[in-house]
Amino acid sequence: MIRFRYAADGFFQKDFSYAISKYFDEKLVKLILIEDDLFYYIKTQSVICKISKENLKITLLDINNNIICEDEAGFHWQHYLLKGGKINYCSKKIQPDEYFYGMGDKPVEMNLRGKYFENFGMDTYGFQKDSDPLYKNIPFYMGVHNNGQIGYGIFYDNSFRTIFDFGKGNADVLSFYARDGEMNYYFIYGPNLLNVVEQYSSLTGRPEMPPMWSLGYHQCKWSYSPESKVREITTEFRKRKIPCDAIYLDIDYMEGFRCFTWSKEFFPDPKKMIGELAKEGFKTIVIIDPGIKIDKDYWVWQQAIVKDYFCKRADGTLMEGDVWPGKCHFPDFTSPNVREWWSGLFKGLVEAGVRGVWNDMNEPAVFEIGTFPEDVRHDYDGNPCSHRKAHNIYGMQMARATQKGIKRYLQPNRPFVITRSGYSGLQRYSSVWTGDNIASWEHLWIACQQCLRLNISGVSFCGSDIGGFIGEPDGELYTRWVQLAAFHPFFRTHSAGNENNFNQEPWSFGTKYEFIIKKFIHLRYQLLPYMYTAFWQNSIFGTPILRPLAFIDQTDIETLFRNDEFAVGDHVLVCPAMRPGISERLVYLPQGKWYNIWNDSEYIGSKEYTVGCHIDRMPVFIRAGAVIPHWPKQQYVGELDILETTLHVYFNKEKEVISYFYEDAGDNYGYKMGLYNLHKFYVKGNSKNLILSHVLEGAFESNKTFKIVIHGLPFNCNEFVIDGKSHKVAQKNLAIGTVKFKIEKDFKRIIIR
Ligand code: NOJ
Repeated sequence: MIRFRYAADGFFQKDFSYAISKYFDEKLVKLILIEDDLFYYIKTQSVICKISKENLKITLLDINNNIICEDEAGFHWQHYLLKGGKINYCSKKIQPDEYFYGMGDKPVEMNLRGKYFENFGMDTYGFQKDSDPLYKNIPFYMGVHNNGQIGYGIFYDNSFRTIFDFGKGNADVLSFYARDGEMNYYFIYGPNLLNVVEQYSSLTGRPEMPPMWSLGYHQCKWSYSPESKVREITTEFRKRKIPCDAIYLDIDYMEGFRCFTWSKEFFPDPKKMIGELAKEGFKTIVIIDPGIKIDKDYWVWQQAIVKDYFCKRADGTLMEGDVWPGKCHFPDFTSPNVREWWSGLFKGLVEAGVRGVWNDMNEPAVFEIGTFPEDVRHDYDGNPCSHRKAHNIYGMQMARATQKGIKRYLQPNRPFVITRSGYSGLQRYSSVWTGDNIASWEHLWIACQQCLRLNISGVSFCGSDIGGFIGEPDGELYTRWVQLAAFHPFFRTHSAGNENNFNQEPWSFGTKYEFIIKKFIHLRYQLLPYMYTAFWQNSIFGTPILRPLAFIDQTDIETLFRNDEFAVGDHVLVCPAMRPGISERLVYLPQGKWYNIWNDSEYIGSKEYTVGCHIDRMPVFIRAGAVIPHWPKQQYVGELDILETTLHVYFNKEKEVISYFYEDAGDNYGYKMGLYNLHKFYVKGNSKNLILSHVLEGAFESNKTFKIVIHGLPFNCNEFVIDGKSHKVAQKNLAIGTVKFKIEKDFKRIIIR
């Protein structure tokens, strides 16, 4: 990783960034400096940075002198005559076969080549394919070229409105620029794209482990109100035995949309209600917006006025804008004092039993005018500036203050925050959803692209409003959406169905669809230990939970322009059905052997297949050699004391495949003190036997045993040998291909023959 900073007139700006994690370890690397008449060369073990003496142009090469990334005009600038300051540009040559990825929530195809984007988060109600900008601001992209041999990333850490042109203006030139701030970017060499994302997240931070319940299914609507409606919905879930972990209260739970208050009429005793919901396994999550109603009798407004915590215009008057409550003032979340105060406001909500907070409208959104005027002032952690600089980080700082508050009061439990806006690094504080989408087939596709793109942009914990926020899906669309979202890290239905009282719950579309939807929610709960392991990989290594095909095998050119297929964690490959009326679709499988999860049929990758996807099925494949942990179905996380984890082992002949299964208490911070178990499984077989080896690390007391289910055995199993002890297979008539048995959790090696 190499950081580039440019100062047009010899003066660098103060080095401060909201994106960079305090845990980022700026390790010094060994450098060799060489100089000839024309160039300086800075050599590391993997990269050569060649700097032209004549014009400062940069060429980055690998150690075999292959070009990774090359300046076109490179850094250049001009005065910003209209508003003062400087417009700082950087332009790079696009390599002939180059593909681009990343950039947060852009609702477009995976490959960004030929496109143009801006980062300036806005409240984009009912956005469309190609709408830009949306809610999030992530100025990070990756390039891959040279037949996938070269991959790298660029993170342009500038919080002003940033502009990226991936060859739209000039087909051979990529440029990024901002109308102020520094030209300050980090170049990250892979060459492996997945590794680029991991490095990017070491820079911008990784999330702590979320509470396991937040991986369950969430139900939301604008709005479930009054209390009796909330109870009607939660009762229905338990009655129909459809798993659900979280129920949301949108703005109508408040008294006149005043944050941190409860409607006396509709929610007279929140503590009692939340307590009773909790007994049934529901976690209550409430919305909190940044707009604080201007009301002399409202304690939150009073406190902020006395403390002088609201944003002001350039002339010193308070920034005033209309949002849900009417005229509002807005806390300046870029001030550490304001964040501290804000975090304290959550005491009452947490004492009432709230387990998570949903931050909305934090682009920040203001009715009529869109967002704050540019002249609004911000503290920016002691670096006072205008809204031009603070706009893109406002939402992230709100989520940061929110997380701080609920984390403090929820101790020893883990916090859960969800935000609509954010800047690079937001993943340290919050999960996200993709905003106000529409109940249409195109939006199902957009949701798929957005969640993949967010994942490779450092933000793994994301999801879309299942079924669409605006409009009414039919049963087929809603079902297909649940199928996709069952594999998304954040799994929530949300809709604005209050206009004609439209219902968007798993049972709203008739028994046929309810049955299928339930099956997929069940599948999600069965796969919880697998998903949780992917969250652990994200938390420790920054590995994205969802991975587009290009991030699985970038040397296979076919993967570079695929949009629909993706991996969840290391070994599950999904291809959603995203058109009405289909019962099959094309799926490209990356290299290796794959098993169809529904019938164990085998496929050889690097090839496209027509795969059945009748409405009760979505194409899902498991990599040969994988070990996939399953839990029994539960109505909510923690409903059952799980005594057994089923390991689904998929036979593999070629090279040994490694799988992880991570477990901890599912909440609290014991895992940071070693109270976790990391199981590593190694699978390799031949035509006569299959060997499953197991290495266990960690000190978490788990009373679970394993049940082993083997898929795809090419021979009839007669015996399995567990740590040297032979067991004859009892079932005489066992079908070729599967075998099941129980085992203690700390076995070392099983031979199946
Ligand atoms: C806009 C949000 O995007 C949506 O999810 C929410 O329901 C409404 N605001 C009302 O709070």
